[in-house]
Amino acid sequence: MSKKKVLVTGGAGYIGAHTAAELVLAGMEPILVDDLSRSNMSLVEGLEQICGRKMLFYRIDCKDPIQLRTVFHEHPDLTSVIHFAAFKSVGESVLQPLLYHRNNLGSLVSLLEVMKEFSLKHLVFSSSCTVYGQPDVIPVNEEAPFKRAESAYGATKQMCERILEDETKADEQLRVVSLRYFNPIGAHPSGLMGELPIGTPNNLVPFITQTAIGKREKLTIFGNDYNTPDGSCLRDFIHIVDLAQAHVKALQLIDTAPSHYEPINVGSGRPVSVLELVNTFMSVTGVVLNYSVGPRRPGDIEKVYADTTKSFRLLNWKTKLTIEDALRDAWNWEKRLSHAAD
Ligand code: UD1
Repeated sequence: MSKKKVLVTGGAGYIGAHTAAELVLAGMEPILVDDLSRSNMSLVEGLEQICGRKMLFYRIDCKDPIQLRTVFHEHPDLTSVIHFAAFKSVGESVLQPLLYHRNNLGSLVSLLEVMKEFSLKHLVFSSSCTVYGQPDVIPVNEEAPFKRAESAYGATKQMCERILEDETKADEQLRVVSLRYFNPIGAHPSGLMGELPIGTPNNLVPFITQTAIGKREKLTIFGNDYNTPDGSCLRDFIHIVDLAQAHVKALQLIDTAPSHYEPINVGSGRPVSVLELVNTFMSVTGVVLNYSVGPRRPGDIEKVYADTTKSFRLLNWKTKLTIEDALRDAWNWEKRLSHAAD
């Protein structure tokens, strides 16, 4: 049987590159596309080292159907698409909403149009728990209503899901799984791939590791007066490799999914506080972090974690790795980056 050929948009990014590694392990053939506007080739190089071979890579902008068509023409045997290509900085999206609307909606619309032209009917979409806002019930399940998004980034994820749902209603053959990620953290256990934030990191774990290595002076914990056991926010942190594996399962499910549009939570189901994560980092690495508590960050959700019933039932998937594994791997990656820079 010929290999499943999967188009991976945003394939040079953090989640895209880790997913490509899992596709290769599962015997599939990823075709990577990325415009490198928020990434560079270093994760693809790491991926090639992990897989022991070159990857098929195209530097193209997914918003541009002409560029997309060239890839579809060259690979008439594509079986499915995983669409990661998007901007993801919540703060930036508030300052530059049009940039986010054009990029995140534009790339999905162009991709769907070209998929239609080439009769490609299977898509896994990179969504986010941000679509829920602060849910009334936690753990949150996929039936929870979308609250008004706090940021343009969140709004684009909600709108993309709506576009996909509309399309699956209009096109009987189209099948889409939207994976709603909780908080992906960590790095590849090989130390060859990990997060590569541009400038000052917004996300917690790269900020922790950069502080630990001495690139940042101090970590600020954004608020300790939330209605949570230790006062800091609660999240559902998930190892990037577990998250990547959920995509392989989604591709395997897609043909037989009960519904043509399936949103599925991808989390561990275990709430962990920001302070607990910081303390766990210190205990697994032995590094003492310079941190203090500051004011709340505007727009932050107090607590959110996944109801994992659906992911287990439909994908037969659950997390295998722990936050300890993720923090150890993130730290190894940070140390490797700093050695490379020396
Ligand atoms: C948010 C979105 C997520 C999106 C991600 C993209 C929600 C619920 N989640 O994740 O969907 O994909 O942004 O960036 O909307 N923190 C600190 N100090 C720091 C950095 C973070 O205390 O220096 C805290 C935050 O206040 C938060 C937690 O750590 O409570 C996690 O923050 P972060 O890693 O930025 O992710 P989210 O905001 O949860």
